[in-house]
Amino acid sequence: MKTVLAIENVHKFFKVGFIPKKKEILKGVSFAVAESEIFGYLGPNGAGKTTTLKCILGLIFPDRGKIEIFGQPHLEPRAKERLGFLPENPYFYDYLTAREFLDFYAQLFRVKKDERKERVASLLNLVGMDRARDLQLRKFSRGMLQRIGLAQALVNEPSLVLLDEPLGGLDPLGRKEIRDIIIRLKAEGKTVFLCSHILQDIEMICDRVAIIVDGKILSQGPLTDLISEKILFTEITLSGLAAKDLAGLGESLSAHGGRTLIKVFHEEKIQEILDLVKNRNAKIHSLIPRTQTLEDLFVEVVKSQ
Ligand SMILES: Nc1ncnc2c1ncn2[C@@H]1O[C@H](COP(=O)(O)OP(=O)(O)O)[C@@H](O)[C@H]1O
Ligand SMILES: [Mg+2]
Repeated sequence: MKTVLAIENVHKFFKVGFIPKKKEILKGVSFAVAESEIFGYLGPNGAGKTTTLKCILGLIFPDRGKIEIFGQPHLEPRAKERLGFLPENPYFYDYLTAREFLDFYAQLFRVKKDERKERVASLLNLVGMDRARDLQLRKFSRGMLQRIGLAQALVNEPSLVLLDEPLGGLDPLGRKEIRDIIIRLKAEGKTVFLCSHILQDIEMICDRVAIIVDGKILSQGPLTDLISEKILFTEITLSGLAAKDLAGLGESLSAHGGRTLIKVFHEEKIQEILDLVKNRNAKIHSLIPRTQTLEDLFVEVVKSQ
């Protein structure tokens, strides 16, 4: 495993209040991001995600600790050249078209003129915006802006892409589009570091995660290691059985359409329910084993604070 981004024991203090007092925002943060993975940096609002990102980008400086990008100190221009960044609320020039906007950024990165046209076209294609290329950004929806923002973060063909809440404020379709683009970036061999407070987004696409709460990393690792595969309970929806038949077999709740949803916590009870259903000519509609979700883990980690 080649490490692309290494954060070691980073501390950051901010002065806050009318009579300034030093407050520790990052309390010894450490984690490592491997090449070509999607790494999720998960934590509630105010946990310190954006502050960590700003440290990585060299916009602010840690009071203690070490940050390395591609094995070099993070302030080295050569390390920074290979970074792409999408801020949480990017600012766009309203009256530029999508193509002009990307061309402008390509110029900032000194991409040569003949190369630029091709680069911009391929970025527009990657984010599915070919058809909107000559539309002014002020006419874009939030989802379209987010996609153009992503294209902009990729103008310099970065190897490591840092995204701050890239799915924030999007509807379900918009979120899926951005998730698909992120997966495509990984397929192209890029490494993605994604900050989010939305569990589902991370759960769906990230290979590994670190959970930060109040400036401390409370848990980190591959999703499959963090979340136990153990079946917590089985959910059965059925109809044709009375509540009294199900007494003692699990926790039953009424579901829509006269169905009963029963949560079964002991495996041997599942067979009892199936036998009962058969004998009484009742009907099973679904039987779903439930394993721990990232949300369960998150709640557990935050509570254990
Ligand atoms: N420049 C600053 N000065 C003082 N406090 C700050 C500054 N930037 C962030 N903070 C505080 O640091 C904490 C973490 O903020 P942030 O990193 O933006 O959290 P997140 O991105 O996880 O929501 C918050 O309590 C925030 O108010
Ligand atoms: Mg933030």
